[in-house]
Amino acid sequence: MPYSEPTNLAVVACPGGESFADEVITHLHHMYKHRFNSKTDVLSNRYQITKDQVVKYTNFLNDMKTTDLCVRGNTEKYRVPNFKVDTEFTYFMNGEFKTEIKECIRGKDVYIFQDVENHQPLKLNGGKNTQVLSVNDHVMSMLVTIDAVRQAGAKDITLVLPVYPYSRQHKKKGREGLTASLLGHIYENMGVTRIITLDLHSREIVNAFASTHIENLHASYQIIRELAKLVDLTNKTEDLIVVSPDTGAIDRNKFYATGLKTPLAMIYKERDYSMVTQNAKDTNIKSIKLLGDVRSKVAFLADDMLGTGGTLLKAMEFLKEQGATKVIAAISLPFFTGNAIEQFNEAYKNGLFYRIIGTNAVYHEELLKHEWYINTNVSGLFANVITRLHNNQSLSDLLDNRTIIERLVKREQ
Ligand code: R5P
Repeated sequence: MPYSEPTNLAVVACPGGESFADEVITHLHHMYKHRFNSKTDVLSNRYQITKDQVVKYTNFLNDMKTTDLCVRGNTEKYRVPNFKVDTEFTYFMNGEFKTEIKECIRGKDVYIFQDVENHQPLKLNGGKNTQVLSVNDHVMSMLVTIDAVRQAGAKDITLVLPVYPYSRQHKKKGREGLTASLLGHIYENMGVTRIITLDLHSREIVNAFASTHIENLHASYQIIRELAKLVDLTNKTEDLIVVSPDTGAIDRNKFYATGLKTPLAMIYKERDYSMVTQNAKDTNIKSIKLLGDVRSKVAFLADDMLGTGGTLLKAMEFLKEQGATKVIAAISLPFFTGNAIEQFNEAYKNGLFYRIIGTNAVYHEELLKHEWYINTNVSGLFANVITRLHNNQSLSDLLDNRTIIERLVKREQ
C-alpha cells in the first residue's frame, strides 16, 4: 500500500456520522498531501531529480500497484485520494434501513462512521424524507451498514464511534442486562476489527471484547487548549481548582488536576435510581455534598457526557453557592438532550456558569450559536489515529496526552 496515496483506505459514513466523517476526511486530505510533498522533497534530493519528475514517478508507481486505476486526475500533479465510498441508504416508512455499497471495496481497510447522538433532522432517500433518528435507529443503521461492508468483501472494518452507545449500561446491579458489552459482542461477531471512540464512559467495556481492539481517545488536549484561552494556566492570576462532578468522574478530573497542577475537589451525590431523570430540572439527584473548598476560586469540571444536563447544572449551581467565582465545564460528548440548551441558557443568564467547552464529536448546530458554548475540534485527532492505524504506526503519543499538555501549559508563560 503506497504511503503517499492511500487508495486502500475507505470511509463509509452512516447518515448520522456523515458530518463528522466529512470533517475527518478534510484532515486526511491535508495530512496525505503534506506527506506526499515531504516525501517528494526528500526523494528529489536523494535521487537528484526534479520534484516534478518525482511526482510523475510516484503517480506512475501508485497506478502500477492498484488494480483498478481508481485515482483520477493529472498525473503530473498530486492527486487527491477519494476516501469516501459511494453508499446509498434507504429509510423505509416502517423504520427499517437498507445500506448499499455502490463501488468495489473488496480487500479495503474500511472505517465506518456513526454519530449515534446526532438528533438533527437528517435528509434521507435522496432528500425526499427528513427524519430525526433515535440512538436505536442509528445503532440499527450502523449494524446494517457493517453487514453490507462485510458482505462487500472489506478486509478490515473499523467503527469510528465517538459516542459508544449504551456505555452507561456497563455494570449491573440485580437483574439488569449488560448492554454495553452486548453491543460489543454483536460488533465482534460481525467481524469488526477495531473501534475508535472518545472518552469511553467506563474502561470496563473494553473487557467485553476477545478480539476487537478499542482505541479510546481523549479530548483533554483539545479541552485544555480552549481552557488556556479562558484562564491563565501558567501564571495562575486566578485560583483554579478542578472539581470532579461525581465519584465516577474522579479519574478523569484527577488527570486534569495533575496536568494543570491544581488542587482537586469532588462533589458527592446521592441518586434515587428508582427515578429516571426527565430533564435538567427534574433529576434523580437527592442530595449533594462537596469534598474540598472552592471559595473564591475558578472551578473547572470535566465530564464525559452531558445528557439532560441535570448532573452538571446541579453541580454548577452548588459550586456557586459554595463561593466559586466562576464555573467552567468541559464535556467530551455534549448530547444536550431534550430542552437542555434552554435550561443552560437560563442558568447562564442567572450567572451559574461562565463557559462550557464541548467537542464536535456530537453534531449540534444549535449549540454553536450560544456565547457560553465553546466548540473544540477533535476531528484532527481522529484523522491522525486513522492514518496511523492504516499505516501500522504507533498510537502511543496520541493516546497519552500528558507531555503535550505539559508543553501547552508551559508555552503560556
Ligand atoms: C454519569 O455517570 C455521566 O458521566 C454523566 O454525568 C451523566 O450521564 C450526564 O447525564 P445528565 O446530563 O442527563 O445528568
